[in-house]
Amino acid sequence: MAGIELGEAAGRSPRGTGPGSGSQSQPAWLDITQGVTGLLLTLFMWAHMLFVSSILLGKDAMFFVARLFEAEPIFGRPYPILVSGVVLIVFAIFATHAIAAIRKIPSSYRQYGLFRRHASSFGHADTSLWMLQVVTGFVLMFLAAAHLYQMFMHPADIGPYASSDRVWSGLWWPLYLVLLFAVELHGGIGIYRLALKWGWFADRHGYTPRRRLARAKWALTAFFLALGLATLAAYMSIGYEHRDRVGERYEPERAALASPVPPPAPQGKA
Ligand code: HEM
Repeated sequence: MAGIELGEAAGRSPRGTGPGSGSQSQPAWLDITQGVTGLLLTLFMWAHMLFVSSILLGKDAMFFVARLFEAEPIFGRPYPILVSGVVLIVFAIFATHAIAAIRKIPSSYRQYGLFRRHASSFGHADTSLWMLQVVTGFVLMFLAAAHLYQMFMHPADIGPYASSDRVWSGLWWPLYLVLLFAVELHGGIGIYRLALKWGWFADRHGYTPRRRLARAKWALTAFFLALGLATLAAYMSIGYEHRDRVGERYEPERAALASPVPPPAPQGKA
């Protein structure tokens, strides 16, 4: 499999096999930790994208989803601190994933060179996918952390106008654009590699239809990228329309009142 431990290429015996070393199972545990946290983050991202894209169903739908995460329908008033709690859990999984995965990033130009030579001798698509995984993971470490910090510190600032104002007038859209591509590519490649590594779709001979799996992976990534771009465009256009009233909160009632009510039908004509 591409993404071998660079130590092996340097002629050291593969980790975890040296006689008597206490950390024999460490790489295996790091691999499992990386896989499980990666899987959780990808499933979270798919759900997150469905919730954030509720703006495509209208401002009322996004307003409802935002208040739902603050448990307003349950407690009768919103508790934004619940969102900060979810952000904390996501951040903990995110940080654990990064710590478990960081050992696979080439840490010197020599290691990078080794990888390049290995990749060109292999000439396998999955090897370049692995490098794309490393690059998008690196980007995510910075951009997702900024987004998570914003959501943790300002959990009450989520809503049709609050989010759109942040995206447009707050100039968060360039970050979201790069973050969107990084997270969808990284998550898609990650779940494809997990399916191969853990044999989710292997037949009883252990054969995995790699080509079909790769096609499914690209279809899924294309779907979430299209959904994400449409969602970002929606927040940007609402933010642009709302640019003179930044800070004003969306209220479904006021929106209903503001919308023109048709005049009553003249008496006797239904
Ligand atoms: C619990 C944690 C999270 C919360 C509460 C959250 C919340 C949100 C909200 C409300 C938006 C809409 C725009 C805005 O209000 O600024 C958004 C957009 C976005 N978030 Fe998150 N997010 C979380 C975690 C993440 C993570 C971990 C990633 C990626 C690694 C991520 C990637 C994105 C992207 C790419 C967008 C733009 C979506 C689009 O318009 O296409 N989010 N998020």
